[in-house]
Amino acid sequence: MEIQLWRELLDPYQLAVDELTVKFDHIISEHRNRGLYSPIEFVDGRVKSITSILDKMQRKDVALSEIEEKIEDIAGIRITCQFVEDIDRVVAMIKNRTDMEVLQEKDYIKHMKASGYRSYHMIVRYTVNTIEGAKDLHAEIQIRTMAMNFWATIEHSLQYKYKGNIPDYIQQKLIDASEAIIDLDHVMSDVRDEIMDAQNTYKKKENLVKDILNNIQNLYKVASKREVARIQDEFYKVYLMEDMNQLQHFSNQLDIISEGFQAQSLQ
Ligand code: GTP
Ligand code: MG
Repeated sequence: MEIQLWRELLDPYQLAVDELTVKFDHIISEHRNRGLYSPIEFVDGRVKSITSILDKMQRKDVALSEIEEKIEDIAGIRITCQFVEDIDRVVAMIKNRTDMEVLQEKDYIKHMKASGYRSYHMIVRYTVNTIEGAKDLHAEIQIRTMAMNFWATIEHSLQYKYKGNIPDYIQQKLIDASEAIIDLDHVMSDVRDEIMDAQNTYKKKENLVKDILNNIQNLYKVASKREVARIQDEFYKVYLMEDMNQLQHFSNQLDIISEGFQAQSLQ
């Protein structure tokens, strides 16, 4: 195939990579703009190089006319997450989308490759609109944690250096390293729970304080100023204790006081 024809073949794939990268990047910003934790940490995309396509054609005995059908990773997107649990969320999000259809899934996290490689792979069908009209194509989405990415990047460099024939002793080291990566991801998952717990507690506290201040505001309309000032002082004292139970207790007491005033005003 002439270089010009390769360009024409690859152009729609470049468009797919560009569009998909924007879309996944937007998932990150939508979360962050709302103060939510983003299950995606960062996104990379690339179109497979011509050399790499030619190598794969040879390796998999693919004819020129079959490239688009049989080489599914011409458009490649890599989604990196902080924690293993985030991967499931990203997979669910992709399955829910109406702009791509999941054709194939490979879970190399549950079923690690013999090399030690771990990642979640999806092949999706995606439509791009070029000057020639609409075109359906395949894209490969790889989803992995930062730790898995670290391992895969190093291993890939070694594969390149040793042209696929990594010496046994290095292979063994890679397998040991992949075990260490599994442990690291586990430890990080424990930290993730801590982070989520902390975020939940903070949210709960925020809501409780909002309720209390609302109640005090309403009391201001019906109770004496002295009474409200006393309640406000009391609230501040309880707030400084940094004890959620005390804060909850105070809020409950305040509810009872407010109800009393409400009952009075209804009489
Ligand atoms: P390819 O011919 O490499 O596409 O393999 P495949 O068609 O059997 O698909 P698979 O899902 O196994 O691999 C697709 C892609 O995942 C590869 O192109 C790599 O980017 C990545 N990958 C798969 N296995 C390994 C591995 O052992 N090490 C590293 N570093 N990457 C891997
Ligand atoms: Mg593949």
